[in-house]
This record gives sequence, C-alpha cells and structure tokens, in this order.
Amino acid sequence: MTLSTDGMATRQLSLPEELLLMLLNGDSGYFHQVPGWDLNCAAVGAVLAELSLVSRIDTDMESMILLDRTEVGDPVLDPILKEIAEDPVQRNARYWIERLAPRADSIVDMTLDRLVDMKILEHHEGDFWTFSQTAGQTDPTAGNGESTAVEFVTSRITKVIFQNEIPIPRDVIIVGLLNTCDVLRFIFQLDDESEARIEVICQLELIGRSIAEAVAHNLAGPLLRRSHLTKKIPAVPLRKILLNPHIRTGNIPAVFADLAQEYGPVFKIRPPFRKPMIFLAGPETNHWTQKRGRMYLRAKDYFSDFEKVYGANGVLPSLDGADHFRLRRSMAPAYSRGRLEGQLDQLYHHARKYMANWTVGDTFSATSLCRRMINAQISPLSVGVDTQDIIDDLMTYKERALTTHIVKALPKFMLSTPGMKRRAKAVDTLLARIQSVHTSAQRAGAPRDLADDLLSLHASDPQFVPESNLRFALSAALIASVYLGDAFSFTVYAMASHPEIYGRIRSEADALFDGGDPDSEAFAPSAIDVTHRFLMECLRVYPIVPMSIRNVMNTCVVEDYELPVGSQIFIAQTATHYMSDVFPDPFTFDIDRYLPSRNEHHSPGYAPYGLGTHTCLGSRWLELQLAVNVLMLAHYFTIEVAPADFKLRFNPLPSMKPSKKLQFRVSEQRREIRA
Ligand code: HEM
Repeated sequence: MTLSTDGMATRQLSLPEELLLMLLNGDSGYFHQVPGWDLNCAAVGAVLAELSLVSRIDTDMESMILLDRTEVGDPVLDPILKEIAEDPVQRNARYWIERLAPRADSIVDMTLDRLVDMKILEHHEGDFWTFSQTAGQTDPTAGNGESTAVEFVTSRITKVIFQNEIPIPRDVIIVGLLNTCDVLRFIFQLDDESEARIEVICQLELIGRSIAEAVAHNLAGPLLRRSHLTKKIPAVPLRKILLNPHIRTGNIPAVFADLAQEYGPVFKIRPPFRKPMIFLAGPETNHWTQKRGRMYLRAKDYFSDFEKVYGANGVLPSLDGADHFRLRRSMAPAYSRGRLEGQLDQLYHHARKYMANWTVGDTFSATSLCRRMINAQISPLSVGVDTQDIIDDLMTYKERALTTHIVKALPKFMLSTPGMKRRAKAVDTLLARIQSVHTSAQRAGAPRDLADDLLSLHASDPQFVPESNLRFALSAALIASVYLGDAFSFTVYAMASHPEIYGRIRSEADALFDGGDPDSEAFAPSAIDVTHRFLMECLRVYPIVPMSIRNVMNTCVVEDYELPVGSQIFIAQTATHYMSDVFPDPFTFDIDRYLPSRNEHHSPGYAPYGLGTHTCLGSRWLELQLAVNVLMLAHYFTIEVAPADFKLRFNPLPSMKPSKKLQFRVSEQRREIRA
C-alpha cells in the first residue's frame, strides 16, 4: 500500500507499521495485547519479515541467510539488517527474535512516531494512540479515495479471511503474526469456518510460517526467564531513612535519590504497623512506568478508599484501561491550554483584582497567599463561581482525607473530628453554588467551562459519570488550586532568591505587558524563554507531587526485581530530579539545563507531571497560568523572602509545599494596578 501525506513521498507502509495499525484499538487507545514483551517479539518478527520481502534475508524453519547487506533506507530496518550482517555466525529467526526483542522498544517507538508523522495515528499525552481523523491519512490507492490507512489494511485482511481472496505474501505474514499474538479474535468476529481459514492462510508462506513459529517460541519464554533471574528486593533499614540529611528539610525526592544510589532502583521499607512498602526510583524505573506500567499496575485500588469519602466510585484518577482513556479524552478540552487561552482577559482581571490591595511593606504567609490567589482565578474560570470564602475548608478537608486515606499517615477517625465534619459541608455548598449558575439560561453566551463539560457528560451518560461522582469531580477541579498554588509559592521563593533571574523575568514581563494586555500568541516560546526555563527548573527542584501509588495487577519484573501481584508500589518518579547522572549538580538551581545544547529534561528522568496513563491532564493549562502569574507579579511588584535569612524547608505531606514559616514581603510596587 502506498500513502501520500503532506510533505512525505508516497511510499508503501512497512510490515511493522501495518502490524501496529492492526494491533491498535482506536477506541481504548491501547494495543490489542497484554504484556509488552509479546508486542516486542511480534515487532521484531515484522522487521525480519519485511527484510525478507525486500530480499535482504531469506528464512526457513531452520536457518536465516543474509542475501544482501545493502541498506534499505528505512531507520527501523537498517540497524537490524546491519546487526545481522555483522554477525559472523549464521543464526535462525528464533535466535534473532530472542536477541532483539528486549531492545525492540525503539522499533515500536520509531514506528509509532512515523505513523504520527504521516498523520495516520494521533498521539495523546499519557502515551495513548488513536487513529487520526484528519484527511492526511486517506489512501489514494485504496480505490475509493476515501478509506483510511487502517481501514485499508483491515479490509485487505477481511477479504483474505472472510471472502477467500488469495492473499499476497504481506497479508499472510500479518495474519500469521496477529494469529500468533492471539488477537485476531479481538479484532474480528471469528467462527469455526474463519478460524479454519486462518490456519490455512498461516501455512501458505514459508517466511510467514518460520517467523510466526519463532515469535510463538519466544512468547512462551519470558515466564521461565522471569523466575530464574529475579533478585531479592533489598530492605532499607529505617535508621537509614531517619539519618538521611534530606529528611530534616523534608526533601523527599532527594531522600529517594540517595536510597536508590545505595540500594538500587527497587527497594522496600518496612514502616512499623504497616505492610512493607516497595519503592521504584531511577531513570530506568521511570522509563518502565511510562512505557510498560499500564499493563501491570492499577490505580483503582489505592484511590478507592479516598474517593469513597466523597461518595464517588470510578473518577478520573481511579479509572484504568479503556474507561480511563474515554473519560480522559472527554475531559481533555476542559483542562487544555486552549480553554485558558480563550479566557486570558478574565485571568488577567482576576490576578489584578487579587493584587490590587497589596501595599509596600505587607507581609503574607506564602502558601496561603499563593493558594488563594490561584483559587481566585481557577474557581471562576473552571466552575463559574467564586469560592474564596470556602476554599480554605475545601483544601483542609481534602488534605486531611488524603493524609488519612491515601498516605495513611493519620488514622481514619481523624477525618471525622467535629472540625472536619464542619469543613466537609463546604463540598455541599460548592455543589449547590455551581448548580445554581449552570442552568442553560445562566450559561447562555458564556464560554464553556469544566463544570459545563462534566455536567453534560453526566447528562448524556449517567452510567459513565454518575451524579454520585460529581461531588468529587467538581471539587477536585478547585483542589488543583492547592497544587498550582504551592507551585506558585515555590516559584515566588525561587524568583526572590535569584535576583539575576528575577531581573530577566521582569524584562520579559515588561516587554509583554507594557503595551497593554498580551493575547495568547504573545506567549511565544521566544518571548518567555527565561520564564519558561525558570518554571521548568522550579518544577524539577520543587516537584509538588513527588510520588505516585499503584497496585500490581499482573506480576512483573522491573530491573530484574519481581513485583508480586497485589502489592502496593510507590513510584518515586521525581527521585531522578536529584540524581547527578540525570541532572548534573542537581542541588544547583540552573535554568540553562533546558537550553537546546543541554536538554537535560529530554528523558523520563524529568517527571513533575507523573508518568504513564495518568500523567497530569492539566499540565499545559497550568504552565500558562503559572507563567502569567509569575510575569504579572514581576511586572507589578518586587517581592522578598521573609525573614531574609529564611532557609527553605518542605512540608511534604500529602504533597510538597514550602513550610508554613515561609513569608513573602512586598518590597516595591513598580506600577499602579488598573483593576
Ligand atoms: C504544578 C501543579 C500540578 C502538578 C505538579 C500536577 C501533577 C500531577 C501529577 C503528578 C498527576 C498524576 C498523578 C498520578 O499519576 O497518580 C496529575 C494528575 C492530574 N492533574 Fe495535575 N498537577 C498540577 C496541577 C494541575 C492543575 C492546575 C490541573 C487542572 C487544571 C490538573 C489536572 C490534573 C488531572 C485531571 C489529573 C488526573 C489525570 C488522570 O488521572 O488521567 N493538575 N497531576
């Protein structure tokens, strides 16, 4: 099949590309098979088969012969052809699949990237893929000019299996690989007759047969390999943790970086009166979590106790698999940067209104000031109401619920104290308030907000988003003010502690705001280069969510350690932020790490927004909101840390924030605020 796409020459799709297209379930965003290893074996099989179709190798059941070492001009195929050509011994396909499968991630990644470049697939944050809906993927050779790439491959395979068409070798190979992976029954409705036909097709081609047989042999392998090679997970003595110098400052990521250095990427801690806790920390385990975690780890278990506090079941952070992706896609526009860009004038208005009463000499508690300032913006922008009078209660209640039901650092009854019961009522007040302004008459002409999206999703599918989930979902939108507010506290602290950077941010701010309020296009990367790199460094040094919790639903091996089914895993994804092999000199605040010449963040070692399927959905929104707040603050005020010799300590539970003692003092007002 040939494809004509924008800016790309017309070319035939390769077997690895066709295989991945067939394996993708576009509705769920997942691939039609379970462990990653299987996908790797099949992907290598597809590469070998493609090499034989282009006459570079020849393979039968016993041997594989190199016919021609000339490069094909395909970055997926050529490195493998080179490796085969350079091997002095003649091997068979089974050998090569076993040897190459552990490294086949790059084959899968490159193939997916190419399908995205060709606009055949769309990539979504959290590493989900769906079939592109754009015209760029139409297949000019498909006859009707309308069919998409995946429809074309599927229709070829359908004709071969169900309409007895004589298959070309390419189709035989694809059917053989899909059959070996045992996924044909998920793609098509098979009956006895079609299954018999599949068996016949699979026998038609020697290349296809030998590759499918080699893949099948390898699929059976990992189970055996796993039990032989696993290492015992080392236990970290409690005193090691208590004596760690970063415990005193509350710098949890730095503690885990040290532990990983000494004990390796997987270790366990046995706290008194609790089950042992298994931790993952390091670039390799981050990579594994990002790429593979979805097949082995589940979010539901750790979250269910907490969501029950709000009467909810199956909200976004606790869903897994296809339902999770469906809800994520439905809610993505509500959390997008575009949604905030559409309301920039309102964002400026709320930020100014909040700062309007500040005078030189005022001193504020950092966390309270920043959380309330961010809430004064997020609340009207995302749920259409002001919540300054109840946000303290909402935040205190949520933090206590997290500490009792997720972090489990306090007993559960601590959520039922009279003070907490009173605060819980703020959730009802919030709901009543939101509902009163989200009638169709009240919303007429208003820009769409997050509450509109949630409520209409509930109305259109009350089974998927039941009313019982709205209390959690709507208040969670505001609780994002806690994370973003605390991130803002850290950025103000960092700005005040680095006067030279403060000056450069101020210049960018003045250039943007001196001529009036900027529109969204004014926030081009070049216009806020320093601010952007500064914010990235703040999120590295001061990550708000240092860890994620998951439960193991399928036994797996990570870096040679077996994670047993049912165990709870603490993924310390930001430990890498303090590892010198990922970020040299990690305790130095250095915004040049993100210059193109260094790009230290270009790996899963930079993970302030989490890893894998539940990656922060609001990351693009929050980056813009944070940048606007930092720039406006720098435009109007000079802020100092108080007391001047304050040494930053973290308060790490349930999420990272500066200690309560941090204060900000307004030392200069640079210009009047037009409210
Ligand atoms: C600096 C502030 C923030 C940080 C550091 C942060 C970080 C994170 C992290 C690490 C996760 C993944 C948690 C996990 O894997 O268990 C997450 C999830 C999420 N975040 Fe954020 N977040 C921030 C602010 C926000 C804001 C302002 C919004 C909304 C506008 C938001 C919306 C979400 C949503 C909806 C999820 C759940 C995604 C899912 O489960 O699929 N976040 N965030």
